[in-house]
Parts: sequence; structure tokens; C-alpha cells
Amino acid sequence: QIIPVILCGGSGTRLWPLSRRSYPKQFVPLVGEKSLLELTIERLTPFNSPIVAVAAEPHQFLVSEAFQRTAQLYDIILEPHSRNTAAAMALAAIHCQGLLLFCPADHHIADTDAFIETVKTGVDAALNGSIVTFGIVPSFPNTAYGYIQRGQQATEHCYKVQRFIEKPNRKAAEELLLKGDALWNAGIFLCKADVLIGAMEQLAPDILAACRTAMQKATQETPEKGHNLIRPDASPLSDCRSQSIDYAVMEHFHNVSVIPYSGQWSDVGSWNAVADLIPADADGNRIHGKGVSLYAKNTFIHADHRPVVAIGTEQLLIIDTPDATLVAHCDYVEKVKDVVDILEKAQ
Ligand code: GDD
Ligand code: MG
Repeated sequence: QIIPVILCGGSGTRLWPLSRRSYPKQFVPLVGEKSLLELTIERLTPFNSPIVAVAAEPHQFLVSEAFQRTAQLYDIILEPHSRNTAAAMALAAIHCQGLLLFCPADHHIADTDAFIETVKTGVDAALNGSIVTFGIVPSFPNTAYGYIQRGQQATEHCYKVQRFIEKPNRKAAEELLLKGDALWNAGIFLCKADVLIGAMEQLAPDILAACRTAMQKATQETPEKGHNLIRPDASPLSDCRSQSIDYAVMEHFHNVSVIPYSGQWSDVGSWNAVADLIPADADGNRIHGKGVSLYAKNTFIHADHRPVVAIGTEQLLIIDTPDATLVAHCDYVEKVKDVVDILEKAQ
């Protein structure tokens, strides 16, 4: 049995003004009417297991509401302090033994059946002690992803990983692409809980120890049968080092495997990526909600609250919310996260 674990503690500042620290992108309906978290929960229900979510304390209600809308049984581990994915994954692995499938809450994967089938092809390697990753064929030297260099083929679908390189710089990413054997890390991991714990004992013992102490002193509430809220103790986590699993473990662990995944996958990392998920008209315009475009080309409008009209625009993104509006040239989407810093300093 595979137990899905959803990591939903990220803050997603690249999708400002829709994604805020108090209401990050995984909780926002970006494509259609459901949030990425709800879509993630639905994608994981075929595993027929209660789902574990690891989330930041202030998001308790956003997470439990998403679960309740899908009628799914759950355990939510509420982090009093977010300490990145190494700690979040360790908390889950301490909480439940077995075969765990760690999934980001904020990705878009269109073909659920293909995704589930691909995950299942990793079960044997995971049971044999590997941390199994899923690799996407790269299309450009993106520096926001981890890169996986494939090694020997182990089974029909699964390869040994020769090297895992988290977020290389532009030059290194270009070199990796030229080698032809590199895949993007999809950020989804399948492994036994005790394999992850063993890897952290060796590679990040301080993070593991903090998480162990926090879980020993955790409290648990069960507001309804099958719906558990777990609150790890705050002080060990307050002192815990904040590092992603990719730097802490994946770059160094000796037994990593990769399964190439050829289906649609998006980490919805920028407004251009959101726009790509919405069908375009003949002129490349994409509209969500109450947007209207006239004589426009390649214009994306996200407008839930009032009509937003673009006339004669090109290569433009317009994101309207009740209290803030973003208008950006689509070549500048990566700069959106800078705006958040500027606005926070101005406050
Ligand atoms: N609970 C919890 N606590 N979740 C967290 C925390 C935390 O402190 N930090 C991040 N997360 C969640 C995010 O919400 C997201 O769902 C997932 O963990 C991954 O974190 P990101 O911060 O989005 O990582 P990234 O996008 O920079 O990089 C990772 O994903 C890429 C693919 O999208 C890496 O695994 C890369 O190697 C990978 O290519
Ligand atoms: Mg991400």
C-alpha cells in the first residue's frame, strides 16, 4: 500500500497578487474552480489510503476544508514553524511507517491514470531501499529545478541515478542539457519511511533529531473519525535548520532511482505557467473568469471579481484581485517575486 503525503507548506510568491503568504497558490482556484491542493487530493484518491498532509499551522482551515470538499480521510501535521521540505518529510516519515509517496501540493498533472501507473512502476525499487524520483524530459535550461543524471537502467521503467544536481546555475544547466541524459526532478518522491529516516540519520542528523523530539511531544486531536490533526512541539522546530530535501538528502544519498515521466507536468511556477494551462483562442489570448480581450494577442487575463478588458495588447499578463492588480509583460514574469519583497519593505 502506498500512503500519499502532500507537502503544502510553500508560500508561492511568484504568483502574486493571487498567491499571498496567508493564502498561497496551492489553496487558490487557478485553473477552473478547484484549487491545486484539491486537484492533488483527487489525483491521490486512487491509492485508497488516508492521505497525510504537512502544512503550516496558520493554514489549518484552508487544508482541512480542501480535504472535506473531497470527502477524503486525512492526517494533517501542522508545523508550528516551517523548516523546508527536509523537516516536513521527516515529520511525515516519523508519523507513519510504510511506503510513502511525497507530492507537492501545488503542481498540475493532467493525466491522473498515467501518473498513478508511473508511480506504481517505482514500488519495487522503493521496497528495495531506493528513494525513487520522477524525471521530466527538460525543454530548456531552467534553473528553478533539480536535475537528475540517469545512470544504468535497472528495470524496464527505472534507472539508477548517477547524480542529482539541485538548481544548477544557467551554465551548468546548459551543460546538463547538452549531455542528453538529464531529467528535471518533478519533486515527487516514493520511498519507505525507514529509508528516508536512515538517509537523514546519515546526511541530516540534526534535522531528524529536531523532528523526532517535536513528534515525541506532539499532541493529536480527532475532530471526526478518520480526520486527525497532529501538532508537533514548537521549540525543537524553532531551532531546526531549514533546508530542502534536495540539498539535504537527494544530492548525497547513494541509492536514488529515477522513472522518466512523459505525461503533462507543470509546477505552476509562474504566471506564464498558469496561462499555459488555460486553452488559448486563435490569437493566443487566454482568459480566466471575467476577462475580455479585443484586438489583443497573447494576452492572459485572470479576473474573478469584475470585468477586466484588454484592447490591442500583446504579450501581456493582467491579474486582477480585489485589493491589487498586476500588469506585466510576459517576458518579465520571473520578476514578480521581487515585487513582493518591495511591497513588504514599503509596509
Ligand atoms: N509542509 C511544508 N513545509 N511544505 C513545504 C515547505 C515547508 O517548510 N517548504 C516547501 N514546501 C512544499 C511546497 O508547498 C511545495 O509543494 C513542495 O514542498 C516543494 O517546495 P518548493 O519550495 O516549491 O520547491 P522548489 O519548487 O523550489 O523545488 C523542488 O521542486 C522542483 C519541481 O517543482 C525541488 O524538489 C526541485 O528539485 C524540483 O525540480
Ligand atoms: Mg515548487
